[in-house]
Amino acid sequence: MSSFSTSPGTRDILAPDAARWRQFQEVFASVVQDAGYQLIIPPMFEDLGVFLRLGEATDVVTKEMYDFEDKGGRRIALRPEQTASVCRAFAEHRPTTPWKVWYSGPNFRYEKPQQGRYRQFDQVGIEVLGVDDPMLDAEVIALADTFYRRLGLKDVHLAVNSLGDDGDRERYSTLLFEYFSANLAQLSEESKITLTKNPLRVLDSKRREDQALIAGAPKIRDYLSPDAAQHFDSVLRALDALDVKYAIDDRLVRGLDYYRRTTFEFVSTALTAAHTAIGGGGRYDGLVEQLGGPSTPGIGFALGLDRTLLACDAEGVFGAPNTNVSVFVVDTTGGLQAAEVCNLLRNNSISADRAFDNRSMKAQMKAADRSGASIALIIGTDEVAAGHIILRPMNSGEQYAVARDQIVGAVQNEITKRK
Ligand code: HAM
Repeated sequence: MSSFSTSPGTRDILAPDAARWRQFQEVFASVVQDAGYQLIIPPMFEDLGVFLRLGEATDVVTKEMYDFEDKGGRRIALRPEQTASVCRAFAEHRPTTPWKVWYSGPNFRYEKPQQGRYRQFDQVGIEVLGVDDPMLDAEVIALADTFYRRLGLKDVHLAVNSLGDDGDRERYSTLLFEYFSANLAQLSEESKITLTKNPLRVLDSKRREDQALIAGAPKIRDYLSPDAAQHFDSVLRALDALDVKYAIDDRLVRGLDYYRRTTFEFVSTALTAAHTAIGGGGRYDGLVEQLGGPSTPGIGFALGLDRTLLACDAEGVFGAPNTNVSVFVVDTTGGLQAAEVCNLLRNNSISADRAFDNRSMKAQMKAADRSGASIALIIGTDEVAAGHIILRPMNSGEQYAVARDQIVGAVQNEITKRK
């Protein structure tokens, strides 16, 4: 006989954590729907070409893609993120703009699994297509900030930067290449390779030997076009007006290549592991065009659910919600009474569970305890004969008989008393 366990980098999310995931998604939905965003559910796999736009030199594309040929000979990839899918959907359906959407679901990256880094991980996110206005950049960033606060998180640090327009990015990239090339001896072997592929990514190196050189590197802020500089300035002023705290980080380049102008990242200072980025995003003004659509500005963010919950654990906030049933029905007459009473309660929106297999009173009371229900209803032959049910508020040491046709009202009363 073979036995199986989950693949590396994947996990079963069991109770009570699974309920917490769901609550997380619900809180996010409520924050963004209140700001006019509509749910989009893109497929979990797409033509590989959709994701190649994330950057031919990024790890996500070169090392981490779950791609394969399907039985029809198509080159397919499991999505590593959802921004590219949203842009592909926009190019395909041409909805009216502004198009404000939100999403929630799993993504797949073949990374080295460790605490906070998985091969299947969940994100919630928003994207807006068709708006250039810096006020929107501030709205998008402020919504992420609001959501974190709604979860109860306090130790979240927001870093913002501008990568400028296409031309600025190109110019800056050349400049960085020249700067690092002139100091090649001081650069780590890994960064030397990165330099040949994408000089901007060298700024993201965490290697100790690179830090001095990175600190002295030219700053993109000094090379922004007047347009891009003004856009960034307006974003910062709007963030100030919305009372969103941020720090400008000249080194913030992000791991995907489609970013232009505003970029941002949220880091949890409560997390001590290597992976402290709990969310990030920015503008990607050329992406829709690259996917066959009209020239359309775009901006959004994605927040990592798995990692944000680790941050919640570290701060002791946003615990699992109580999903226990309210009532446990104990029936020593064979089980049909429990079936009828559970049905009655559930039809009156009162959650109820029961034991099966006609077990002893003692075993059923144990099950009632384990269920976490706050009320036990006990039905024996005497109660059936008298048309009664015993109502026992758990852990109270008391119990009383209720006429069977009054049971819904009596249970509702007890539940209200406990609120
Ligand atoms: P990203 O920075 O690659 O951006 O991912 C966003 C967040 O997803 C990260 O900050 C992190 O919390 C979480 N995450 C990423 N990879 C993993 C992993 N292997 N395990 C656990 N969590 C992970 C994007 O995905 C962009 N699509 C964001 C965006 C939306 N930009 C514009 N619109």
